[in-house]
Amino acid sequence: MHDSVFSYNLTRPYPFKWFTPVTIVGGVIIAALVSFFNFASTGYELVPQPSSDPNETIHDPGQYGGIRWPSYFTANSRATCASTALPLRALIFTHNNAIPYTLTRVWRAKDDGSRLDLGSLVYHNNELQDCNVTRISIDVLGKYTMNQQVRAASPVGLSVNAFATCSVVIDTPEKVQRPTYFEMTGNYKLIGPDVTAFLSRNKTNATSLWWGESMLQMYWLVTARAYIDGAQDTDVGKDQTYNAAITLQRRESTDQGTAEETMSDDFFATGCFVEASYCGTNVTSELADPSKAKEDWHPYPKLWRRANLLGKAMYFTVLADLGRQDAPVPNMLTRPNLLANLTANLTSEVQWWKSASKKEGFAPHWQPDPGLSQDKFDPGQTPPPSLGAAPAFLSTNYICQVPRVKAGDPGDVDMGRLVSG
Ligand SMILES: *[C@@H]1O[C@H](CO)[C@@H](O)[C@H](O)[C@H]1NC(C)=O
Ligand SMILES: *[C@@H]1O[C@H](CO)[C@@H](O)[C@H](O)[C@H]1NC(C)=O
Ligand SMILES: *[C@@H]1O[C@H](CO)[C@@H](O)[C@H](O)[C@H]1NC(C)=O
Ligand SMILES: *[C@@H]1O[C@H](CO)[C@@H](O)[C@H](O)[C@H]1NC(C)=O
Ligand SMILES: *[C@@H]1O[C@H](CO)[C@@H](O)[C@H](O)[C@H]1NC(C)=O
Ligand SMILES: *[C@@H]1O[C@H](CO)[C@@H](O)[C@H](O)[C@H]1NC(C)=O
Ligand SMILES: *[C@@H]1O[C@H](CO)[C@@H](O)[C@H](O)[C@H]1NC(C)=O
Repeated sequence: MHDSVFSYNLTRPYPFKWFTPVTIVGGVIIAALVSFFNFASTGYELVPQPSSDPNETIHDPGQYGGIRWPSYFTANSRATCASTALPLRALIFTHNNAIPYTLTRVWRAKDDGSRLDLGSLVYHNNELQDCNVTRISIDVLGKYTMNQQVRAASPVGLSVNAFATCSVVIDTPEKVQRPTYFEMTGNYKLIGPDVTAFLSRNKTNATSLWWGESMLQMYWLVTARAYIDGAQDTDVGKDQTYNAAITLQRRESTDQGTAEETMSDDFFATGCFVEASYCGTNVTSELADPSKAKEDWHPYPKLWRRANLLGKAMYFTVLADLGRQDAPVPNMLTRPNLLANLTANLTSEVQWWKSASKKEGFAPHWQPDPGLSQDKFDPGQTPPPSLGAAPAFLSTNYICQVPRVKAGDPGDVDMGRLVSG
């Protein structure tokens, strides 16, 4: 007989009674699991989203429908945030929201010790480190350089600048962590009634900065007043074309100054160029000594203690804003006894400013901000206020890529609710 080319296999039912249901149900379960895992790992797409807090954005479980997936599932769709480049001249704030700063210089130390200047600060939510205030300058402004509303409060204006240096540790192109240094200039000015120079204030939870702002505002007015008194008899006093520059620089350079140093009248070395004179010595207490006023180059003796207190208010406010409590000197705004010393004359100086301004007929409608203190700090108060400086981070926005459930998929169903409910 001739063999057929075609054949058939004999099949027999498996001799297990449950084989069919187990196979079918098992198959369905495996299919469901595979597509579920598949969905969990690829059912999301990354979409850009701005964020001001990359730490929170990256760890936000809400992106995955409220589920904390094992990272295996979400490896393809994890949120990431890019660093921000802050260009030179950018206006920056810290999360403490006090003073506005202009970024003026960014650099990194090269291996040979020289500086590599950079055009922008690449920043990724890093804590600011080792901030120092190198110098305070007070520019005296005459009537042509001031806003008219401020002139209603004072014929002399002041612009107070603090020059600060900080570092952040970030990855460099060579993949080593090195500090990047940057310089910035913080500015305080009285802008006008009801306009605050600080980004925000909170007497309860940012008490030290609130005292700093109180001192800045009142000593701005008091120092400007003392300047008028000094220059009144000169020609500029008659024309109100005041124009002068005062610089204050910490006299010591130790890394760990003492409380006594901060309380001293000679904490700063004072330099000045005023109308027709200049400061012939940088010793503040000598400049402020009325018995020396007749000597050459000791102008306006009543000005210097006040200008120095305005300078201290700026110096310690900027340090507190930048997260510094203990170094390079104890921060006067964060210790009750030092704050008491810094503000000791506040009450009497405000009274003096009010009566002097009234006498001149200036601005009966101008009042110092009632939201700030016009009285000295009482270290004995109960409960004690919570003074301190919070760690500083720059406020900026980041572009993040965050996972979102792909549109049009079965994933339109809220997986979080499906699984957890
Ligand atoms: C964000 O996270 C990094 C690393 O975990 C940490 O060093 C940094 O302090 C955090 N930043 C903030 C603002 O919490
Ligand atoms: C601040 O000053 C200290 C002491 O002089 C110095 O060690 C530190 O590097 C300075 N910080 C910055 C950011 O330059
Ligand atoms: C100040 O901070 C406290 C505590 O965080 C808060 O309850 C209060 O609302 C804040 N006040 C303002 C004006 O933001
Ligand atoms: C103070 O409270 C405000 C508003 O509640 C908050 O935004 C800010 O982060 C708090 N500051 C500190 C230093 O706790
Ligand atoms: C103050 O003046 C003295 C003597 O002229 C000088 O040696 C010192 O460097 C000055 N200090 C500052 C901080 O300018
Ligand atoms: C602050 O303390 C110093 C040193 O004890 C003292 O000379 C100075 O007069 C005090 N300042 C005020 C305004 O009381
Ligand atoms: C504080 O006021 C007293 C009395 O008016 C004065 O002698 C002293 O110089 C003032 N101190 C400061 C630092 O302004």
